[in-house]
This record gives sequence, C-alpha cells and structure tokens, in this order.
Amino acid sequence: MKKISPLTPEDLPAAYQLELIAHPFPWSESVFYSNQGDRYFNLKISDDDQLIGYAICQIVADEATLFNIAINPKFRRQGLAKMLLNEVIAQLSSMPKPIRTLWLEVRASNKAAINLYNVLGFNELTVRKKYYPTKESSHGEDAIIMAYTLML
Ligand SMILES: CC(C)(COP(=O)(O)OP(=O)(O)OC[C@H]1O[C@@H](n2cnc3c(N)ncnc32)[C@H](O)[C@@H]1OP(=O)(O)O)[C@@H](O)C(=O)NCCC(=O)NCCS
Repeated sequence: MKKISPLTPEDLPAAYQLELIAHPFPWSESVFYSNQGDRYFNLKISDDDQLIGYAICQIVADEATLFNIAINPKFRRQGLAKMLLNEVIAQLSSMPKPIRTLWLEVRASNKAAINLYNVLGFNELTVRKKYYPTKESSHGEDAIIMAYTLML
C-alpha cells in the first residue's frame, strides 16, 4: 500500500540511493543532505516499507520552491508523482503561515516532468537560457520556470 509521510533523517541513505538512480544529473550527497531541516518541507512516498519517491521543497517567507522530486524508475507512470505533488500542494495550502506560490525550475528537455507539472496546473512563466550544465559542457540547457498559485 502506498503511503505519503515526512522525509526524515533516517530516510536519507535510501533517498540518496534513489537520487543516484533517478536523475541523469544527481545532486552530490552533501547537497542532498543539506536540503533538509527547518526551512524545508520534504515528503516521501513508500510502498509498504520501501521508499519509492520523494519531494524536496524549501519555504522562504510566503513562497515555496520545489527543488527536487523523484520516483523510483520501477514505479513510474502509476500516478505516484502526481499523488505526491498533490499532497505537497495540499499541505502547503493549509500551513498556519500562508504560502502563496510554489515555484520550480525544470530542464527544457525533461518532458516527463514538464507534462506532470502541466497536468497539475503549474504555469510556465519564463525561461533561463543555458542555465543547466549538460554532458557536452560547452552548451548549457535552458531552464523553464514554472509556478503554481496556492493562494491569490
Ligand atoms: C518526472 C517523474 C517524477 C514523474 O514520476 P511518475 O510517478 O512516473 O509520474 P506520474 O505517473 O504521476 O505521471 C503523471 C503525469 O505526468 C506525465 N508524465 C509522467 N511521466 C511521463 C513520461 N515519461 N513521458 C511523458 N509524460 C509523462 C503524464 O502526463 C502523466 O500522466 P499520465 O500517466 O496519465 O499520462 C519521474 O519520471 C522521475 O522521477 N524522473 C526523474 C527525476 C526528475 O526528472 N524529476 C523532476 C525534476 S527535479
């Protein structure tokens, strides 16, 4: 049975192993471990006791930013990222200190993620040209900036 709950310090070794297999450009371990703590709102999705996905958000004032979301490749296309992000949105929308906007940036080539964000109702706001490193280091890849309005 799938369950969504807070990502805790005890989850981080398994979450980082997932980071390494989920992303073509994974974060370093130190970056991954530093994106935890008071200013973060991080959730995981589990299948029985196995961690199969996570979402990492930072909250600053009345804005949140989704820094990372990943689902284990064996569990993709089952609606789990959608379920996890819907829960992120629901919990951000009901925090005691109101959060107005959920921001994110995504590689222009990441069609799976862009489709997911569009399905959930994120709007594309702008493009940062050549923002991300690529395997061919002389070319950067564009970043698409998207936002979801939690509260007008
Ligand atoms: C992006 C990612 C999180 C999607 O996870 P997922 O659980 O497979 O997504 P869902 O099953 O919830 O898909 C929801 C919708 O997103 C879109 N989508 C998801 N994967 C897609 C794909 N490979 N190709 C096209 N559209 C896709 C579809 O519209 C899908 O709805 P549908 O299945 O009814 O067509 C997953 O592919 C992943 O972990 N990718 C690597 C990490 C990453 O790129 N993270 C985002 C940037 S930080």
